[in-house]
Amino acid sequence: MAPGVSQVAQPAIEIIHLAKAFGSKVVLRDFNLGIFPGENLVVMGRSGIGKTILIKCIIGLVKPDSGTLRVFGQDISKLNHHELDDMRMRIGFVFQSSALYDSMTVRQNLEFPLRRHRRKKISHSIDELVLEALTNVGLESAIDLMPSELSGGMRKRIGIARSLILNPEIILYDEPTTGLDPITSEEIVHLMLELQKKYKTTSVIITHDTVLAHEAANRIVFLSDGIAYATGTYDEMKSSNDPEIKQFFTR
Ligand SMILES: Nc1ncnc2c1ncn2[C@@H]1O[C@H](COP(=O)(O)OP(=O)(O)OP(=O)(O)O)[C@@H](O)[C@H]1O
Ligand SMILES: [Mg+2]
Repeated sequence: MAPGVSQVAQPAIEIIHLAKAFGSKVVLRDFNLGIFPGENLVVMGRSGIGKTILIKCIIGLVKPDSGTLRVFGQDISKLNHHELDDMRMRIGFVFQSSALYDSMTVRQNLEFPLRRHRRKKISHSIDELVLEALTNVGLESAIDLMPSELSGGMRKRIGIARSLILNPEIILYDEPTTGLDPITSEEIVHLMLELQKKYKTTSVIITHDTVLAHEAANRIVFLSDGIAYATGTYDEMKSSNDPEIKQFFTR
């Protein structure tokens, strides 16, 4: 376990014997993992291996075939619609494609989760929260732009701002630096680390980017063959003799 991460605390997320197939295609077979509060867990693995499906199961967007998924100690399969909605408010999700609504301005995109989760007691006005979220990612000036007017890096930042606007305790990032040049990637990594420090979130970060993994991960889990094939620190993974893991770290 990496320094600064408490193993004594109850895991923020517990994944036990998780299985998911699409027809005859088995994606997750027997996936087991505990993710601790405040941890930055990086998930790596080949394209199409099931990383996105794994985090979609965590947020209840994909229903597993079997196994148990506890978030903040609650079994998500036992939650009713409202309870699941409340749970989702505590989890931010930065999608693989930034998933902004193209017909809405940046402001409207950021207002969207606030209006959707009206039931949450919000002490600040919507305008204040939108501005704070944009300030967090350094894009106050983009408030009235349309997504088509943003660069890839800006879209990622706005995606991060939107997922943080409800002040989530857990944030799931799906390939936050993919498709960005090295300098913009580095900016996004620093932004993620800064925000994590400020809000003390637990983060699950899917990435192929070894620079991001190196800078952000307390622990890496390597997903292969439907299981948590290997877990360890960046240095442990980098020095692994397993041919499949080696390929990832020698590029
Ligand atoms: N709704 C679906 N119906 C059928 N198959 C699906 C569905 N969603 C995902 N899959 C399949 O599940 C497998 C895992 O997909 P997933 O998106 O989790 O991969 P990934 O590891 O995130 O890949 P990448 O690195 O390319 O994003 C893939 O083979 C994909 O085709
Ligand atoms: Mg994916």
